[in-house]
Amino acid sequence: MRHQGTALLAAGGTTDAGSTARGDAARRAGPVFTAAARQPDRGRKKELSAFTYRDGELHAEHVPLSAIAAQYGTPCYVYSRASLETAFREYDDAFAGTDHLVCYALKANSNLAILGLFARLGSGFDIVSGGELARVIAAGGDPAKVVFSGVGKTEQEMRLALDAGILCFNVESAGELARLDAVARAAGKRAPISIRVNPDVDPKTHPYIATGLKESKFGVAYDDALALYRSAAQMRGVAVHGVDIHIGSQITELEPYREAVVKVLDLVDALRKNGIGLTHVDLGGGLGIRYREEHPVRISEYAEMVRDLFAGRAERLLFEPGRRLVGAAGVLLTKVEFLKPGDARNFAVVDAAMNDLLRPSLYDAWHPVDAVRPRAGEVREWEIVGPICESGDFLAHDRHLALAPGDLLAIGAAGAYGQVMSSNYNSRPRACEVVVDDRQAHLVRRRETVAELFAHENLLPNA
Ligand code: LLP
Repeated sequence: MRHQGTALLAAGGTTDAGSTARGDAARRAGPVFTAAARQPDRGRKKELSAFTYRDGELHAEHVPLSAIAAQYGTPCYVYSRASLETAFREYDDAFAGTDHLVCYALKANSNLAILGLFARLGSGFDIVSGGELARVIAAGGDPAKVVFSGVGKTEQEMRLALDAGILCFNVESAGELARLDAVARAAGKRAPISIRVNPDVDPKTHPYIATGLKESKFGVAYDDALALYRSAAQMRGVAVHGVDIHIGSQITELEPYREAVVKVLDLVDALRKNGIGLTHVDLGGGLGIRYREEHPVRISEYAEMVRDLFAGRAERLLFEPGRRLVGAAGVLLTKVEFLKPGDARNFAVVDAAMNDLLRPSLYDAWHPVDAVRPRAGEVREWEIVGPICESGDFLAHDRHLALAPGDLLAIGAAGAYGQVMSSNYNSRPRACEVVVDDRQAHLVRRRETVAELFAHENLLPNA
């Protein structure tokens, strides 16, 4: 029998090597949070997955995904609470004993339930808009633990963030610095800032998500940073606190980080010699997860490297992880509507589409696809596509599965940059979201209604 796709268990770095045949996985009545096999090449420790097969059916923690589909319909994003909490704790604990703050980058997944969970665990937040600040506050997050990134902050967003009393503005250009200085002075405030420096290192990731190269629109050129800090130090509307880097996303090697940190620490030392002392260094986010065969950096290895590089230094460390905290914690649950076997290709048309999960269409990203109840029968190679009128509307290519209409599929590693990048293209209501906590499923975002889609539109008076 051919393998039916790569095991969902692989998502997030938890592949059970040698047993990727779906049939095997389905027969294995593993307990939830089954420890996966060691990765001999990296000597990885056992990792855990919240999505496992029991009694031939894929579960999220202790809840069968079919029960969630029956109750809430499809398409539906399903997240595991335990997986979210484990990921946050792992990151945070790796820096225990070092003055640090993990600021979850909520652009990866900004559902209030998830923000609330992380806030209760002590998380700070990395925001990129006034809208994200409002979400943090609505979820009970502490604005004093918020850093504000982004190349295009408006005056209004600056005022909102100043009023909320955020921890730091990560300034990305001379123009932004001048604007922030003016806005803060007008408000009778002093804005805490760090300058996002572009260290010009290659993170070896997809070009759309590399941000620390010279060609990128992000940050201030390394060679210009000292001069900009000097002028910031003269401004009455800003107070210089730190420096910030973020070199890219889905990074699976340590070396680019090392290179970037070494450069940024040289800058910190040069600034000190110029009388500008920084109190924090923000290393951004970017640590990758396993979608297919990647070998993500272990948090402990990353932490060890960072600790080494910061040995004997006094700056507080800030981090902005997004994907690493939520990516492996979610699946997109979808139903097969029709099968269209053909001469050239076999299409499985499902009820999720590029408007629900854009990553495959936009980045050619690979996500695991697994049957919720793997069936016996002929395994074929399928294109998993949505109903949207675009040839680029696909969720996966060439997946080996035995399928029938009505079957449920789980698209794995969809917790990060999934729902947040969804749209209403083709007037499709956005999917609902569910968080599973042990034996309970909680609806944390209901499905949009069609009426909501055009609730803000008007007919012309004389139409
Ligand atoms: N900090 C800043 C300033 C960022 O721009 C980002 C992500 C992060 C932190 C979090 O990065 P992470 O730890 O999640 O890698 N939509 C793309 C990813 C875009 C990332 C944008 N910036 C994707 O689906 O792969």
